[in-house]
Amino acid sequence: MKPANVRIAQISDLHFGRDVAEVAQTLLAELHEAAPTMIAVCGDLTQRARDAEFRAARAFLDGLPAPALVVPGNHDLPGWQVWSRFTRPWRPWRRHLSTDPRGATAHTADGLVAVGVNTARQWGPHPDWSRGRIDAGQLAAIEAQFDHAPGDDLRVVVAHHPFLLTEAGLHRGLVGRSKTALRRLRRRADLLLGGHIHLAYSGVVDGLVVAQSGTACSDRLKGEPNSYNLIEADGDRLSVTTHHWDGARFDTRRRADYARDGHEWTVASD
Ligand SMILES: [Fe+2]
Ligand SMILES: [Fe+2]
Repeated sequence: MKPANVRIAQISDLHFGRDVAEVAQTLLAELHEAAPTMIAVCGDLTQRARDAEFRAARAFLDGLPAPALVVPGNHDLPGWQVWSRFTRPWRPWRRHLSTDPRGATAHTADGLVAVGVNTARQWGPHPDWSRGRIDAGQLAAIEAQFDHAPGDDLRVVVAHHPFLLTEAGLHRGLVGRSKTALRRLRRRADLLLGGHIHLAYSGVVDGLVVAQSGTACSDRLKGEPNSYNLIEADGDRLSVTTHHWDGARFDTRRRADYARDGHEWTVASD
């Protein structure tokens, strides 16, 4: 049986506290028009994990037109309140989003199995604590979900930190343990979604499609406009269309196409 068409809207780095109201409202309206199967929210919902910022993020999420798989980013941890960061790092997240950021969360729909993992960490072995990590327990949780899914289902991992960087983002670093993750997810997953870099791009790594979205509605731009991705999968074809803000709407589009053989993806040649 041919698997169902799947349409995923990917948004990231909303950074409420540094949000641009017009952009956020237009984004919400366009997501309603797009009628996605699922919305992947790839972290950094807030700027400094403040209550008011989480309340604004919660209100935005409540207005989304489809089930959302939401993962935290490094900005959703208390940044400067060092005591809170170490003793109760996820208390604000739990209070406002009512989900446990540890472990993994899953969403399934016809033709789709998606797993969200929290790659943000309260500290790290290097000076830049904004870098994240995926751990063995999270990989095991992803595998457990994917290994029981129907063979043709699109298998999606939703995270904050990137599994693929371009030249412009090299200094930010890949998610920690990315090599191990890619080895274990090869031919097991199809699509890895991330944010954090505030740049939109996609590509293939080790037979997996990686799609990164930029900052959806904040003024924390890194050389390109606000953006979101619409990802459409139809059997063994998948497209990633980036919608960039043009000053009034998300109207400028860039599309990349991919094809799979088994669960091995390549850039589509036609
Ligand atoms: Fe961010
Ligand atoms: Fe981030």
